[in-house]
Amino acid sequence: MTEARKNGPVPSRKRLLTGLRPTGRYHLGNYVGTFEKDLELQNSGQYECFFLVADYHALTTGYETAREIGDDIREGVLDFLAVGIDPTRSTLYLQSLIPEVSELFLLFTMLVAKNRAERIPTLKEQVRDLKLESASLGLLNYPVLQAADILMVRGEVVPVGKDQLSHIELTREVARRFNTLYAPVFPESEGLVGRFPKLPGTDGSPKMSKSMGNTILLSDDPETVRKKVMSMYTDPTRLRATDPGHVRGNPVFTYHDAFNDNHEEVAELKARYTKGRVGDVEVKQKLVAALNRFLDPIRERRAELERRPGYLEEVLADGSRTARLEARETLRLVRDAMGLNYFPAARARVESAV
Ligand code: TRP
Repeated sequence: MTEARKNGPVPSRKRLLTGLRPTGRYHLGNYVGTFEKDLELQNSGQYECFFLVADYHALTTGYETAREIGDDIREGVLDFLAVGIDPTRSTLYLQSLIPEVSELFLLFTMLVAKNRAERIPTLKEQVRDLKLESASLGLLNYPVLQAADILMVRGEVVPVGKDQLSHIELTREVARRFNTLYAPVFPESEGLVGRFPKLPGTDGSPKMSKSMGNTILLSDDPETVRKKVMSMYTDPTRLRATDPGHVRGNPVFTYHDAFNDNHEEVAELKARYTKGRVGDVEVKQKLVAALNRFLDPIRERRAELERRPGYLEEVLADGSRTARLEARETLRLVRDAMGLNYFPAARARVESAV
């Protein structure tokens, strides 16, 4: 007999959804920014988790290099599984395998004014960073597609990076608009930000990012991690090991805080550092050891998964099948709510023919 039968009905679990933009191998910033939260919530058992690989979102800025997206997905999903996302507990799926997402997106574009989409801060940042003359319609619609991802599974909780909160706000607006205009189909989703919304890069710049070349990858081998850490930026005001150093704003200590499981060691290093009683080399060596302790099991799992050739595709196929059932149901509710259920016999015939 299941637990549910013995103890009465299980309170229904909240729906969680988040998306991964496939950018190839992921780094420590991705981990503390969102993966860690995803894992924690998955493992709490309190959420029904959906994780999607947002390959269409990757196209909005990477359309010229579309051919690389497949490899980026493979590398990224291996990392995501290696950190402990478990396809037997969570649904991991590929956005482009769910055509209903594109359909829902199209319907949502009617509910968002062009001016509203243009006011999203990430859009301005992208246009500036990528030196675009003007955003494509695809890029302008990026957050509307994200709203379709979230609302397709009627996601209530959405772990995201801090920069994504404006997209969640738009998602709520779309849901409210739809529910008021037609019928209450959608929840108002809530964004959840991770412990370290912005992990600095190894070069001391505020954000770890691939394009800046300042990352430590989850799949970097121990020697690479050592080299990267030993050449990290620290406290520029400190010239000698006997000078009192600054812990705040010092990325080496930020990483200690984020990854060193030996909290006593971290506290002790900080105390000595501010008094000028420890050199950067020792602080870094301890960080190398801590990072390798943290990364070892991830590397091991990744290597295991790499030895199982068909596995990744199987996971995505199973997850996408589950997500697609959910998507069909949502789209049916949407069509009914909007009154787009005309010519049902024709629709049924076309659907059964393909
Ligand atoms: N835009 C997100 C990012 O850049 C990725 C993403 C796509 C996403 N669809 C989503 C995040 C749905 C949360 C929910 O990181």
